[in-house]
Amino acid sequence: MAGKSVGNIGVMTSGGDAPGMNAAVRAVVRTAIINGINVYAILDGYQGMVDGTGIRELDWHSVGGVMDQGGTFIGTARCKEFRERDGRLRAALNLVKNGIDKLVVIGGDGSLTGADTFSQEWPGLLQELQDNGKLTVEECSACPKLQIVGLVGSIDNDMCNSDMTIGADTALHRITDAIDALSSTAASHQRTFVVEVMGRNCGYLALASAIATGASWTLIPEMPPEDGWEDRMCGLIRSATAAGRRDSIVIIAEGARDRKGQPITSNYVRDVLEKELKRDVRITILGHVQRGGAPSAYDRYSATVQGFRAVENIINMKDGDESSIVGIRRHRTAVVPLMESVRLTRSVPDKIAAGAYDEAVALRGGSFKNMLNIFNTMMQAVPKGGKPGRETGCFAVMTCGWPAAGMNPAIRTVVRLGLDHGHTILGVNNGFEGLISGDLVEMDWMQVEDWMRCGGTALGTNRTRPAESDFYMIAKNIEKFNIKGLIMIGGWTGYEGMNNLCKMRRNFPAFRIPMVCIPATINNNLPGAELSIGADTALNNIVDVIDKIKHSSDSSRRAFIVEVMGRYCGYLAVISALSTGAEIVYFHEEGVTLDRLQKDLDQLVKSFSNGRKIALIIRNENANPVYTTDFICSLFEEAGGHLFDMRKSVLGPLQQGGVPTPFDRLLGARLAYEGLTHLEKCLAENSDRCIFLGMAEGTLNQHDFSQMENMSSEEHQRPVEQWWLKAAELARSLATIEK
Ligand code: F6P
Repeated sequence: MAGKSVGNIGVMTSGGDAPGMNAAVRAVVRTAIINGINVYAILDGYQGMVDGTGIRELDWHSVGGVMDQGGTFIGTARCKEFRERDGRLRAALNLVKNGIDKLVVIGGDGSLTGADTFSQEWPGLLQELQDNGKLTVEECSACPKLQIVGLVGSIDNDMCNSDMTIGADTALHRITDAIDALSSTAASHQRTFVVEVMGRNCGYLALASAIATGASWTLIPEMPPEDGWEDRMCGLIRSATAAGRRDSIVIIAEGARDRKGQPITSNYVRDVLEKELKRDVRITILGHVQRGGAPSAYDRYSATVQGFRAVENIINMKDGDESSIVGIRRHRTAVVPLMESVRLTRSVPDKIAAGAYDEAVALRGGSFKNMLNIFNTMMQAVPKGGKPGRETGCFAVMTCGWPAAGMNPAIRTVVRLGLDHGHTILGVNNGFEGLISGDLVEMDWMQVEDWMRCGGTALGTNRTRPAESDFYMIAKNIEKFNIKGLIMIGGWTGYEGMNNLCKMRRNFPAFRIPMVCIPATINNNLPGAELSIGADTALNNIVDVIDKIKHSSDSSRRAFIVEVMGRYCGYLAVISALSTGAEIVYFHEEGVTLDRLQKDLDQLVKSFSNGRKIALIIRNENANPVYTTDFICSLFEEAGGHLFDMRKSVLGPLQQGGVPTPFDRLLGARLAYEGLTHLEKCLAENSDRCIFLGMAEGTLNQHDFSQMENMSSEEHQRPVEQWWLKAAELARSLATIEK
């Protein structure tokens, strides 16, 4: 980063709190300190700035141990005084008195707009303060401009130009947990629940949670339901009940409206359902629970990289640069103009009011539109049985490799979408073993009802690769069951097995069918996919446990070494290190040397002698065959002497278990939707194209099997290019042990 001299930076959180704000503040503070810049917290948002009593310098240690806390430890507020010029005048005085001429504002569109107005008024405000004698000429000339960088902290995920706002992923965790819990009580009583979720004018939380939980119906502001929706909603729930569904959940966004612009309330929906369905309906308004609690792994990670980028941006700002926000676009940090993003965001309600619903949806971004398509298909209570003119056939789906949370949601999507389009869907039990022995079953609609929330894979899986001697039986079964396309959801062994089938086409004509590989492994080591299904759940499992491990040592001096999975891929180790603030991370791509161990050890000893209480080391299971977790633990224990104890945790299979996170459910649904669409296209065009799918830089890509080898390292079973490698350096610099 450029070593240019910069005045003091103020960092504040404003508006509704959002989980992940603490990680952002930590990253801002530590990145500023690394660059020799003083950084001040402005406590309680604009209120602290207006009052002037809440401006406090932060040091390296003042942001230690905050990442796992929900909310914002520097406080936030919705401040009325700052909306008036007089309030902003007082705020300017207080900033100048502290030498602050750069602000990192973490908040929603209202807070960011306020910051931009403030920055534009700044010269006038300073002139007035100088004229009335509150500031000297020197004080004013030390801070001639106020530069702003915004980070979007809001659970609503409502900022145009940024794909994910800080806090939205965690809120989705809270919502899916709550709806999973509600659905079991709903099913017990055969009840319907109307669940109201937050989001102001944005339907992201409602729509994403509706897909993630398999809800019956959802109402969002961007796409008000067509007149007569009440009958359609009741009709769908009625036929789902007749098909065997015991619970029904209707998710309503707090800002939902009808086509006349009238709010649709949960009470209204409840009354309609009770009257028409003649059954018990209960309302649950999730409220502020959605904003609370520990941030998810994604929110910690993304807030950290955005906080880092904000300071980098402030350092490199030139005179005349307009205020910007750092957001996430295409799975990377991006700097975008603040006011343009706010303008677009604020135009959404106008589009809705004008009946331009497609435009409103488009403004929310491509993935919002995709989610809407997926939900509209998936909410069908019973299979429609295809469209006239669409070719139908029999497709098979199987899971291979170790289980990964999110496999079941992917299978469910294949089954429901396939049946909805009139195809026959066969489930292959136990991966390639089932394909060899002919253990295939016809899947039905209700069988997969609950699978959005089930971990692992209900079809069974293992790491069997078909041997040459198995090809004959596989070919025979493909013919016997008249399979016209095959989807494999799984990891490395599944990819290899499918590739081998494809290579054997000349000898076995039965293999001349389209095939699709969908990436699903906690290791996140597959070509063409920046994130595979299951990796997010594993990361959250790791982060949850590490939070507990860290708190177990509140009163003693301890260093923990935690071994995580991933085989030869360090993704889980590096991203969990970044998300938990680990001081040391060892992973295979980087390797471990004796020299490195010695340096880390020296720093640990120095740091514990200076009063450190806890240190965290994360080691990828295959980081080095000699410097094992046991070896490092014993080495450090011996050298730590009376200064610190070592404790070892090998996390093992708990990383693979548990219910899928909302992200893995959505990713599973999205990839499965694409996989089935590919098979249908091939059926219509008489093609046998074999592809592997994956999201990369926010785009869903298809690659031919022939690219598999070039894109991966066979020896270490991982992709040649890995986007996350840079994160290791950031994780280390923000948790440097010697500070
Ligand atoms: O913007 C975040 C948000 O939680 C919205 O989803 C919600 O409408 C609003 O804030 C609630 O605000 P308050 O916490 O001030 O009641």
